[in-house]
Amino acid sequence: MCHRLPAAGHAILAGEPPELDLTSAASLDAALAGFRPDIVVNAAAYTAVDRAEDQAELAFAVNATGPGLLGEATARAGIPVVHFSTDYVFDGSLGRPYTEADPPAPASVYGASKLAGERLLLAANPRALVLRTAWVCSAHGGNFVKTMLRLGRERAELGVVADQQGAPSFADDLADAVVSLLPRLVAAPAGDPAFGVFHLTGAPHTTWHGFAQAIFEGAAARGQAAPRLAAITTADYPTRARRPADSRLDCRRSAEILGIEAADWRAGLARCLDALLPRKEANAA
Ligand SMILES: NC(=O)c1ccc[n+]([C@@H]2O[C@H](COP(=O)([O-])OP(=O)(O)OC[C@H]3O[C@@H](n4cnc5c(N)ncnc54)[C@H](OP(=O)(O)O)[C@@H]3O)[C@@H](O)[C@H]2O)c1
Repeated sequence: MCHRLPAAGHAILAGEPPELDLTSAASLDAALAGFRPDIVVNAAAYTAVDRAEDQAELAFAVNATGPGLLGEATARAGIPVVHFSTDYVFDGSLGRPYTEADPPAPASVYGASKLAGERLLLAANPRALVLRTAWVCSAHGGNFVKTMLRLGRERAELGVVADQQGAPSFADDLADAVVSLLPRLVAAPAGDPAFGVFHLTGAPHTTWHGFAQAIFEGAAARGQAAPRLAAITTADYPTRARRPADSRLDCRRSAEILGIEAADWRAGLARCLDALLPRKEANAA
């Protein structure tokens, strides 16, 4: 967002605690009054999925109360808001890709807190767009691509879960989607079909193991030695929080109503690997 929005000509205020705290109405009001934005995009969240099981109060403060306060603050300021949510609002037992009409049933504290946040935000500001995404990666911050590259350097063999389905989503694709929506959202009145809950991930669907395979193929093409990859099950890799086994999201509604197609994550991965592992020829040149 911090790269794509200015590149598209938008002036942004990108805040983090302690200056801008999602859990403080006073902090939100002060930021809105000082900067007077046309729209707010909220990418802040408590995202430590396993730790959330033991820090439910904090997870709910940031992921539920926070978006509620943001909804109230943006409604008071008379502006729309874009908010990111997650496939973890579903338990993954449906057996087909989830549509926005499918009832959520989170299996983790993180998922429950994000679902509560969606609801509080939408109740507070009718001009709210909630984008549920999944498996977010980029060249920045910590994520699965960077973890795989690190483990690939450290180990000769790696087991990756092959029985959880979903779709990687690259942050630059999500940012581009938001950029393309801004003019419409800023002009749209409450009740416009562009507000509400939408699913937006990359495509096509895969498993963590399939994603890891693509990462190591790309890394090998860029000169990094790849480990032997073993397919393991969720039971082989126990985690504190339960993950959905099949959290594929059906993104057709985003295409139909928002005009945004799910981006091919393989192209996003290539861009990400180009940034993280510059090709040897490029170095030589
Ligand atoms: N990553 C994924 O795979 C994934 C999947 C589905 C949905 N999502 C959603 O996508 C969004 C972005 O996720 P991400 O992975 O980019 O998260 P991230 O890397 O953990 O970034 C979250 C940011 O929120 C900030 N933050 C935490 N508490 C805050 C508060 N009280 N006020 C203001 N900022 C606060 C964090 O700051 P500190 O670092 O200082 O704590 C951090 O910069 C979230 O809504 C997440 O639920 C992510």
